[in-house]
Amino acid sequence: MFFRSSSKLVAPVLRRTYSTSRWSKVVKGPEDPILGVSVAFNKDTSPSKINLGVGAYRDDNGKPYVLECVKKADKKIYEAGVDHEYAPIVGVSSFNNAAVQLALGEDCKALKEKRVVTVQAISGTGALRVAAAFIARFLPGVTAYVPNPTWGNHNVIFADCGVPVKSYTYYNPQNCGLNFDGMFKDIQSAPNGSVILLHACAHNPTGVDPSMEQWKKISQLCKEKNHFVLFDFAYQGFASGSPEQDAEPVRYFVNEGHEIALCQSFAKNFGLYGERIGAFSLIGSTPDEAINIESQLKILIRPMYSNPPVYGARLVSTILSNKDLTAEWRSEVKLMADRIINMREQLVKYLKQHGSTRDWSHITNQIGMFCYTGLTGEQVDRLASEFHIYLTRNGRISIAGITPRNVEYLAKAMHKVTSESK
Ligand code: LMR
Repeated sequence: MFFRSSSKLVAPVLRRTYSTSRWSKVVKGPEDPILGVSVAFNKDTSPSKINLGVGAYRDDNGKPYVLECVKKADKKIYEAGVDHEYAPIVGVSSFNNAAVQLALGEDCKALKEKRVVTVQAISGTGALRVAAAFIARFLPGVTAYVPNPTWGNHNVIFADCGVPVKSYTYYNPQNCGLNFDGMFKDIQSAPNGSVILLHACAHNPTGVDPSMEQWKKISQLCKEKNHFVLFDFAYQGFASGSPEQDAEPVRYFVNEGHEIALCQSFAKNFGLYGERIGAFSLIGSTPDEAINIESQLKILIRPMYSNPPVYGARLVSTILSNKDLTAEWRSEVKLMADRIINMREQLVKYLKQHGSTRDWSHITNQIGMFCYTGLTGEQVDRLASEFHIYLTRNGRISIAGITPRNVEYLAKAMHKVTSESK
């Protein structure tokens, strides 16, 4: 349509009015089920509040703990006067070597045969993300099986990378332990060649691990089924206090010939949460295959984040390349694991002392940073609203948040909400 303006015919100016904005369909999403607990905790002004949500170690005073070996490594790095150049796409090589050796052991045959590729990763989550992207690209359509329950991010990482994800039975709510038969049957029924994600130790969220005998059966089964085993190893040293003992299942699988994928995090065992330092390793069947895999990992990583940050890698490799610092790290990781074990015992003691007659033996039977208490979502809500105690709604508590000062208060509150529930 044309308008007459003076004597000329002019086209109307196209004036588009937007009744809605471009992002009007973006709805507000929920907080993360784990990290959102800290958001709620931070808003609470009560002096008696306790954060048992996120798995981050705290000392006896409830404070973050900076390991002495990390402080010393920090000083060494500073004194060495390092530059701030880019790392290669695969990260800091001295870190990669130290990381994979810590997990697989010095005598690992696959390492000696140069069949293992390791790349630095943005902590455990980043390692899993690279793993999932690699699976999506080179095993398209293959389903990843994760335990039920599992760390909530597992499902999302696979789904976001386009890897179909299903779960296998893991936990037995009747005895707060492992449902080994259910786990075995589900892994057996998965199509041959599936991806099976296993928590190497200190299962998150349940704190329930298979025994070594059970691991052996799972290894045999995965071999028969030609499953591809992906170990999430976020707590080496944190479960038993011994990095070697915690690595036993992973090392067993590798010695048995599984060409595993391995995702490591150094957040918990080195107290390097904010540095985002981890590693992803994949075992090939020949050195040439390993070279090819590495080249493809680089092609995947470059458009993701180009290359990883160097600082955490320098800290970990400085510690693990120095005998004295490694010894100090070992004693500090044991100290953290022992404090957690001690807090489990204290919690059970106070629950009994305050009159709880429930069977709380799973609190001491479970291992690692978390305890799957069996508390219901409603009981968890009451702990927050009446007692300022914050945990994830699945009843998981991060034992690391319990201290000698708050354990009795926590026990009383847990007894109250569990004894008053129908
Ligand atoms: C947890 O499970 O609390 C930790 O692994 C932290 C996280 O990123 O979820």
